[in-house]
Amino acid sequence: MGKVNHSIAELVGKTPLLELVNYEKKHNLAAKILVKLEYFNPNQSVKDRIALAMIEDAEKKGLLKPGYTVVETTSGNTGIGLAAIVASKGYKFRVYIQDNVSKERFQVIKAFGGKVIKLSDEPAIAKVLKETNGDFVAAIKVLREEILAKEENIYFVDQVSNPANPGVHEVTTGPEIWEDTEGNVDIFVANVGTGGTISGTGKYLKQKNPDIQIVAIQPGVNSLPSETNPEPEEITGVHAFEGVPVERIPATMNLDIYDEKYEVETIEAYTAAREVAKTDGILIGTSSGAAIYAATQLAKRTENKGKTIVAILPDTGLRYLSTNLFNEEYLG
Ligand SMILES: Cc1ncc(COP(=O)(O)O)c(C=O)c1O
Repeated sequence: MGKVNHSIAELVGKTPLLELVNYEKKHNLAAKILVKLEYFNPNQSVKDRIALAMIEDAEKKGLLKPGYTVVETTSGNTGIGLAAIVASKGYKFRVYIQDNVSKERFQVIKAFGGKVIKLSDEPAIAKVLKETNGDFVAAIKVLREEILAKEENIYFVDQVSNPANPGVHEVTTGPEIWEDTEGNVDIFVANVGTGGTISGTGKYLKQKNPDIQIVAIQPGVNSLPSETNPEPEEITGVHAFEGVPVERIPATMNLDIYDEKYEVETIEAYTAAREVAKTDGILIGTSSGAAIYAATQLAKRTENKGKTIVAILPDTGLRYLSTNLFNEEYLG
């Protein structure tokens, strides 16, 4: 009947592209910046795409059946997207989280009926975290091989090795950008966390036009943990992919996909996110600010005059009201 949807699954994707007309004018940019607003997804982030795709892929392969519990290890956007999709499909959801995760994040997962367990509350994981000085990859290995392997009726999603993660961007995000711009795209900019967005979208766009430049954002040196600065203010959900041991790079990141790596500091991401809220009325998260900052610097290059830059904005600024991006200290 008419335009009634019957599941949040039907609301995932087909997000709009917006040209930052006022922002471009303010900066005298001679290139267009088009942003893809992923906060239009039903749970306000790009991760709704992979949450739905990974669940439906597991159903199709017979790995996930009625009565099963879905397990993941993030309370970030993927955890939130999964908690909602899993609730709507009638499965149970359990997430293992790092101890320092902000309260709002796991409150949302609990609101969707999910169970939240701190990694340090599992003795085997607490032990390996202590022995490896907090190696998350080692902790996941113990979770998979020593804890989940003993349980039945479990499906471990594992977004960092699940091919449905980049896969869904190849079949949805990429084609949406291509169709909405009618193929008029010269540069594509995206952050790298699991690498799913850039690897899948980049693959599709390069197949359509190999001349499209793919730019991958890496946090700047002052925004990455180091010996002198072990706890810097980071860009949530975004990680380094150059200059890190290869075993720490997710299998979902295709290192051959990008033409250029662009470094953005957290403070630069804040500046851009705060600015577009005022110029164009969009409230976005830190990684979205990083994408706009990088797109702006690319737009200023003489060789990019007249070009069209598309940047993915992963999530909503509403998820950052308690962080330094939009906290009361900044807002005054
Ligand atoms: C807020 C945010 N931005 C960007 C990304 C990066 O996306 P991807 O994992 O597809 O590389 C993530 C991933 O966790 C994220 O949570």
